[in-house]
Amino acid sequence: MSAQLIDGKAFAEGLRQKVGVLAAEFEKQAARKAGLAVVLVGEDPASQVYVRSKGKQTVACGMASFEYKLPATASEEELLKLVEKLNGDRFIDGILVQLPLPGHMDEQKVIATINPDKDVDGFHIINAGRLAVGQEGFVPCTPLGCLMLLKDRLGDLSGLEAVVIGRSNIVGKPMAQLLIQESCTVTVAHSRTTDLPGVVRRADIVVAAVGRPEMVKVDWIKPGATVIDVGINRLPPEPGQEKGRLVGDVDFASVREVAGAITPVPGGVGPMTIAVLLRNALVAAYRNEGLTLASDAL
Ligand code: GUN
Repeated sequence: MSAQLIDGKAFAEGLRQKVGVLAAEFEKQAARKAGLAVVLVGEDPASQVYVRSKGKQTVACGMASFEYKLPATASEEELLKLVEKLNGDRFIDGILVQLPLPGHMDEQKVIATINPDKDVDGFHIINAGRLAVGQEGFVPCTPLGCLMLLKDRLGDLSGLEAVVIGRSNIVGKPMAQLLIQESCTVTVAHSRTTDLPGVVRRADIVVAAVGRPEMVKVDWIKPGATVIDVGINRLPPEPGQEKGRLVGDVDFASVREVAGAITPVPGGVGPMTIAVLLRNALVAAYRNEGLTLASDAL
């Protein structure tokens, strides 16, 4: 039987609508809009597309969008000064510095300069630490989006076997922390894992975040498992095509025949990332103004 498709696009749309309603409520109470600043350094085309899309969606949700563009030749000091200025600006609730940064800049140093209470990416070590010990903070957008899709599909996750493939700071590690908090039994697999297919076969929940096109094969999947595919990989173009197809880290066509539910690529996890960013920015705004937001509101 074919797996149910998990429609991240529709879920993200619903989340943005909720953010919009609560952003209007925030504006009424605070007499200002919630504000999100996005900083782009250089002219990387993919980053430009992301930043434009973030700006548009921020405004569409009724929040204020502030965009800062620095040339690729800007010094690290200039960027740090800008981040400090944004830290001190009371109209800015969230700060996102688009990654990757040019090679002459130290990403960790830049992230460490962002006020943790405005770190809507959840990349600051204070927020990584808060997540690790179960304190309130900001959680990276992509894994939080994956968790929302999982809970929407499965309800209570407690006692389930989860295997996260990939150990990045941005997805794999925070994903594992979130699943531990949901009382899953969590394994983090990676490039050095022996018998990866055997490890993945144990899982009720598989989260694939490795950046290797169609790596997860059908015979790795326990029948009925829920499969979340974080990968977005472009295949080389076929003859006569200008661009190759976008595929995830999971061999979708075959895995969907065995899994219970699966996210497609595109249209699965991808649309969730910006929607969760907007959610985080609004949560930051409520916290920064000392206003109450129900814990289950978003
Ligand atoms: N580059 C690609 N995705 C992201 C993201 O979610 N946050 C930041 N800061 N940079 C990115």
